[in-house]
Amino acid sequence: MFDPAQAPLGVFDSGVGGLTVLAALKRQLPQEDFIYFGDTARVPYGRKPLEMVRDFALEISQELISRGVKGIVVACNTASAASLPELADKLPVPVWGVVEPGVEVALRMPGQGRIGVLGTEGTLKARAYESHLEAAGREVWSKACPLFVPIVEEGISDSQIARLVAEHYLSERPELQTVILGCTHYPALKGMLQELLGPKVQLVDSAEATAAVVAADLKNLGLVSNEPKTAASIHHLVSGDVTSYLHTAKILGGPLGSVERIYLGQAGRQRDTVSG
Ligand code: DGL
Repeated sequence: MFDPAQAPLGVFDSGVGGLTVLAALKRQLPQEDFIYFGDTARVPYGRKPLEMVRDFALEISQELISRGVKGIVVACNTASAASLPELADKLPVPVWGVVEPGVEVALRMPGQGRIGVLGTEGTLKARAYESHLEAAGREVWSKACPLFVPIVEEGISDSQIARLVAEHYLSERPELQTVILGCTHYPALKGMLQELLGPKVQLVDSAEATAAVVAADLKNLGLVSNEPKTAASIHHLVSGDVTSYLHTAKILGGPLGSVERIYLGQAGRQRDTVSG
């Protein structure tokens, strides 16, 4: 008999950034199978109109549902800001975003100082973080960092170029107590950002917090897989070039598995499976 608890979990992002969330999910839910969708053909989402990102999010979610996922983790701040809660209303499975878990971690940090939010233009335009943080009475400084995403996708997070770009984005910051990495690509730059911001600034990466929320909800919904497995599977769906995806995924230390190239949208659909 079909048991939905044994189905895989769907996870998606515009590119490799969501692998930081997938890694946290894998740590907290080692027995689960995952299908990860990296929309590398259409990355970046951050500068695209929010309605367009909402359509991408719906299209990807429908693809994941057609593959039998039991829930979907929107491992992208821009897509979370653009498409939640509409996505949750439309889809027949539970949906989780990354913004609220990040906000909760930031608000739990000791102190009442100003909170910085680094994110994409779309996430900032939607005021996804600001609205929650200001409602909690906190002062917020936010900065769009559009060049971070291509730098991470290119696999050059640990370079002089990345450092110069980060210095530029942070040059006019006021005093900050906490900085939220409001894009799932940015944890790849965490070490360097911490160095530039100084040891007193607390950095928030929502990956572990999101994974904890997903793990708790799956348990409450009776959807935790209890099938004994020697190795749970991860299947990657990639809309762009597979070789460069694998290259960057390896640099990020993202968990690899099988990789399939997939074309969504007007180009029609073709599939091509390779192992990673
Ligand atoms: N990693 C995504 C986010 O968290 C998307 C970045 C982009 O594609 O611009 O916002």
